[in-house]
Amino acid sequence: MITLNVDLGDRSYPIYIGTDLLGQADLLTQHIAGNSALIVTNETVAPLYLEKVKQHLGSIKHDVVILPDGEQFKNLDVLNQIYDALLSNQFDRNTTLIALGGGVIGDITGFAAATYQRGVNLIQIPTTLLSQVDSSVGGKTAVNHKLGKNMIGAFYQPKVVIADTSTLNTLDDRQLSSGIAEVIKYGLLGDIEFHGWLKEHMKALLHRDPSALAYAIERSCQNKAEIVSADEKESGQRALLNLGHTFGHAIETGMGYGEWLHGEGVATGMVMAAIMSCKMGNISEADVCEIKHLIELAKLPTHAPEALTAKGFKKLMAVDKKVQDGKIRLILLNAIGDAYITDDYDEDQLTDCINCSYC
Ligand code: NAD
Ligand code: GLY
Repeated sequence: MITLNVDLGDRSYPIYIGTDLLGQADLLTQHIAGNSALIVTNETVAPLYLEKVKQHLGSIKHDVVILPDGEQFKNLDVLNQIYDALLSNQFDRNTTLIALGGGVIGDITGFAAATYQRGVNLIQIPTTLLSQVDSSVGGKTAVNHKLGKNMIGAFYQPKVVIADTSTLNTLDDRQLSSGIAEVIKYGLLGDIEFHGWLKEHMKALLHRDPSALAYAIERSCQNKAEIVSADEKESGQRALLNLGHTFGHAIETGMGYGEWLHGEGVATGMVMAAIMSCKMGNISEADVCEIKHLIELAKLPTHAPEALTAKGFKKLMAVDKKVQDGKIRLILLNAIGDAYITDDYDEDQLTDCINCSYC
């Protein structure tokens, strides 16, 4: 097992990464503060992993909420099911919420933990690649609004992240690729060495080679932990973690939640950010093609859906947490491995890069 640390003073916490961690009771129980716990999971993950987690709770008073599965259920209505369970069990401020599932479960449970009685303990047990490399770490919690993704949320850190890589054996190939999109992101935004490694090892990742997967998860979490430790509330460099996301969220919202997977939107968004960076003269066409090729290799989409017009797309992009004073701020590339945030760009160039293709 590898242990990383998210360094946030007295709110620091460990990330455990390894195989068969769900079988180790103490990894979980040592982080449960009070004498009650609520496991939140969904109808797909529950039959696979719920018993493994539940068996460790022993004498701790506990209950389970099983939510419907899908991005379209990451909303305020479904969030209420968590509050209902907490209140009907009379769980108090010392209770611990345990998120068992992918990023949807992690985000909605995290928001419930941030808001129930103004904040209770939270444990993240991510079971998708995407949630193990990104969403379970760093304390962003949220639900969607029909007009914009993740628009209602809070920064709220967990007590621990337990990433059992054995759970990835039951993940389907499309979801694996979706997670790889966020892995690719770390290389592009600030880790050129990792980008090089990914070019060499993409096939191994797709074949679920255990050591390649373990390395990709560790390196991604290291990158994320470092950025979050330096800028927890996104007043500066944390925004770089949103490379591709403003474009991607527009696709996810515009197509209807759940149609495009989060990683698929991010993958296409990263290509669009690369094209925009090229139009601005920062990177070459060869760089755009290198990025696009890596994303294609990961079996991810690289072109925005035809159904979205440039005008509609920009309207969707305008509902983004990076918008300041009405201007969309973009994460662009100075070079592969070097991202920056800017509101200094030409609107026409942005319009042009929405439906164009390179390579
Ligand atoms: P997801 O939670 O929808 O999980 C994907 C699918 O895999 C679901 O059908 C789920 O039930 C299933 N699943 C989960 N674990 C499984 C397993 N081990 N075996 C088989 N099936 C399994 O999607 P995701 O990609 O994990 O997360 C996407 C969400 O994360 C989005 O809502 C996105 O906005 C959010 N996100 C948040 C952050 C953050 O910092 N908080 C970062 C990135 C993404
Ligand atoms: N996924 C972006 C962030 O955590 O900041």
